[in-house]
Amino acid sequence: MDTHKKLTIGLFGFGVVGEGLYKVLLQTPSLKATIKKVCIKDAGKKREAPASLFTTDKWELLNDPEINVIVEVINETDAALEIVTTALKNGKDVVSASKKMLAENLELLLHLQKETGRSLLYEAAACASIPVIRNLEEYYDNDLLHSLRGIVNGSTNFILTKMFEENLGFKEALLLAQQLGFAESDPKLDVEGIDAVNKMSLLLMHAYGILKHPSQIAFTGIQQINASDAAVAKEKRFDIKLVAQAKKLLNGKVAGFVMPQFVRQDGHLSFVKNEYNGVVLESSFADKQFFYGKGAGSFPTASAVLSDLSALRYQYQYEYKKRFHHQAAELSNDFYVRAYISFDDWSYIPRDKFMAIEEWHAEAERKYLVGIVHFSELRENSWWKENNTSLILYPEAIIEDLEVRKIKKLSLELAGLI
Ligand code: HSE
Repeated sequence: MDTHKKLTIGLFGFGVVGEGLYKVLLQTPSLKATIKKVCIKDAGKKREAPASLFTTDKWELLNDPEINVIVEVINETDAALEIVTTALKNGKDVVSASKKMLAENLELLLHLQKETGRSLLYEAAACASIPVIRNLEEYYDNDLLHSLRGIVNGSTNFILTKMFEENLGFKEALLLAQQLGFAESDPKLDVEGIDAVNKMSLLLMHAYGILKHPSQIAFTGIQQINASDAAVAKEKRFDIKLVAQAKKLLNGKVAGFVMPQFVRQDGHLSFVKNEYNGVVLESSFADKQFFYGKGAGSFPTASAVLSDLSALRYQYQYEYKKRFHHQAAELSNDFYVRAYISFDDWSYIPRDKFMAIEEWHAEAERKYLVGIVHFSELRENSWWKENNTSLILYPEAIIEDLEVRKIKKLSLELAGLI
């Protein structure tokens, strides 16, 4: 007996993802999911679908009792929130790809899911085609997840690849990312790490039960990275990536941030090029696992929406297990990081704030140091991303207190030479 629910979809948005989903659904009749109406903003635009499918009236979808699923893949955060909350309140299940809206309103959306009993699924909102959210929620349903390190923004990874491996200029690389449909309509969201931290906020919830507005998570983007940083990276046999990292500390709290990071050229994340995303999870017994796939673009994103739709046929819901069934972890700033910092002038660098300075290159064309600094210094101050200063974390960036004491002892001599 087929107990699967028939899905009648109201789709909001017919851009890169919406159109992708429309085409993907045409090729997957076995899903028994049909789009009844598509709500768009601009009725005048030419679209490759029957005109009768489209409307500019959101209520035609939200108030249609036959429509039991709303798929929301639009660009505007406020409008997306209104659509999603109204749909849930109207008894519909929802699939959304609006990472910014989801991350900024997760608390409210958790309440609404509980209150209405409806599902809100958003696999496409983090790492597009990689099924990372559902895996964190279901497979890593225990306390054994040590760490997560991921490249979660396709555009910045595309730009870094094009700039440092194919010698394209920043502007050219960004333009290409925009033309290919990877970049946000405001590309600052990609470049400055905002998109990545929005995704990180969702990942922290499903990995550790941490509920944090993106503004409460430390982040920066790739806007400060320049060619001399790439040259130093090469010398050290590293690549530079924008990495979202979370790690369980010895005290049970979690370190979490989004920052540029050196990754070893023979490591998993170095393998991730262009618009691909990659996530390395480390847990007690499985050791390392590497998820890899396209993190942006029409069909890769649509494929995650499709998988959510498929899950809705058997009433799947996120239980937010780590938050509600386990002891939710806490985000901490109480740890140290090893960082490479390049800058124009020494006067911009508060040397007394470093626990140790391990390398000091005053003679280089662009000056740089490698040092250990307490993370709260980076949280509370912004010298490290002002005045053309750039910071890149080391591969095993997170250092806990005991290790630092050892390093400090060793480095006192070195500091004396400076
Ligand atoms: N702008 C986003 C990215 C799209 O480049 O990753 C996918 O979320």
